[in-house]
Amino acid sequence: MRLEFPVAGRDFQAAGGAAQKIKRTLRQIGIDAETARRVGIVAYEAEMNIVIHAFSGKVGVDILPERINVFAYDQGPGIADIDLAMQVGYSTAPEDIKEMGFGAGLGLPNMKRYSDNLVIESEVGCGTSIRAVINLPTKEGS
Ligand SMILES: Nc1ncnc2c1ncn2[C@@H]1O[C@H](COP(=O)(O)OP(=O)(O)OP(=O)(O)O)[C@@H](O)[C@H]1O
Ligand SMILES: [Mg+2]
Repeated sequence: MRLEFPVAGRDFQAAGGAAQKIKRTLRQIGIDAETARRVGIVAYEAEMNIVIHAFSGKVGVDILPERINVFAYDQGPGIADIDLAMQVGYSTAPEDIKEMGFGAGLGLPNMKRYSDNLVIESEVGCGTSIRAVINLPTKEGS
């Protein structure tokens, strides 16, 4: 099952809505609270990075029997140095966005922390795509 939502750059009104819908749907179909929370965090940070840094994009999940894949892709400026962008505290968010409480440079580190695998691909002047894997807990005794 795939869930996918459009994300518009600079739309702080709708920002976070896609991640919230993803998290709610996971709970409704019986995904455990801890997994839904982790997916929610990863999807939220990916969604906010599109809102803050890109022009437009999509965020979504593929729900598989053993794992949940979070994906996000955007049309935007891209990331020149992904290793640098992954550093805690690194942010290019403009001052007006920082005044809103964003731009601590914690989004990508948190996505890495809460996922089992994170892959970022980006082309400067074109856009960025992100895939994160969150494994479902294995059932006791199996
Ligand atoms: N989708 C994207 N498009 C272009 N640049 C991005 C994108 N996502 C992240 N970046 C770049 O990587 C940097 C670090 O991202 P990260 O999410 O860790 O921090 P932030 O978004 O600046 O702040 P925070 O997430 O704490 O609000 C950003 O400041 C930006 O330069
Ligand atoms: Mg961010």
